[in-house]
Amino acid sequence: MRKKLVAGNWKMHGNLAENAALLSALKPALAGIEAVVCVPFPYLAQAQAALAGSSIAWGAQNVSEQAKGAFTGEVSAAMLLDFGCRYVIVGHSERRSLYGETDELVASKYMAAQAAGLTPILCVGESLAERESGVTEAVVARQLDAVIKAAGVASLARAVVAYEPVWAIGTGKTATPEQAQAVHAFIRGKIAALDAGVADGLVIQYGGSVKAANAAELMAQPDIDGGLIGGASLVADEFIAICQAAAK
Ligand code: 13P
Repeated sequence: MRKKLVAGNWKMHGNLAENAALLSALKPALAGIEAVVCVPFPYLAQAQAALAGSSIAWGAQNVSEQAKGAFTGEVSAAMLLDFGCRYVIVGHSERRSLYGETDELVASKYMAAQAAGLTPILCVGESLAERESGVTEAVVARQLDAVIKAAGVASLARAVVAYEPVWAIGTGKTATPEQAQAVHAFIRGKIAALDAGVADGLVIQYGGSVKAANAAELMAQPDIDGGLIGGASLVADEFIAICQAAAK
């Protein structure tokens, strides 16, 4: 039986004072519930200090594909590990579209994360134009294939996949539970064709305008194993309610 996992992606939000308030609200409310917060790099130490010993893990939102060296502005997987990270988001659509990350670069970051012992949260998903032209499955398959080709299907036993339709991110337009389930089932089926055991154990999160109000119906779908939450992860009551809905 897969366990549901909810992760917050704070994106480029927060400051020391706001984070302290948010983390201290999450910690007691989520006692015993496994959850993740992916915070901006400068706040990893703060998350580590606040969450150590709790059921909430922390991670980053990006990582270098390089292990070390003259790569100004980059942060390595080993550095994330130094701050107690367990997870790192790779291939978020904002990284792909705004910072030009290709499928191959995302695969390299995924491998760098795993090589250091981190669990990558690999984001995949189609744009509105892609959905409307009927290539959703082809896009998601291409994004997955880049990682499978580089790292092998067995590597997915040490990863989380997040399906995030780009048109649903930050738009208030959530995929319907049926739309999301269809793509989740496609992802699991595609992986099952290569390795049934890996597919069965793989946590596939849904992301895109998840809120307390729609979390339960999304989580009730058979192939939706949790969520990757943007805006609502910055609001303690919202994030807590989403994590509780997933844990039910
Ligand atoms: P929103 O929940 O704000 O739509 O963002 C989703 C997301 O991009 C999480 O990674």
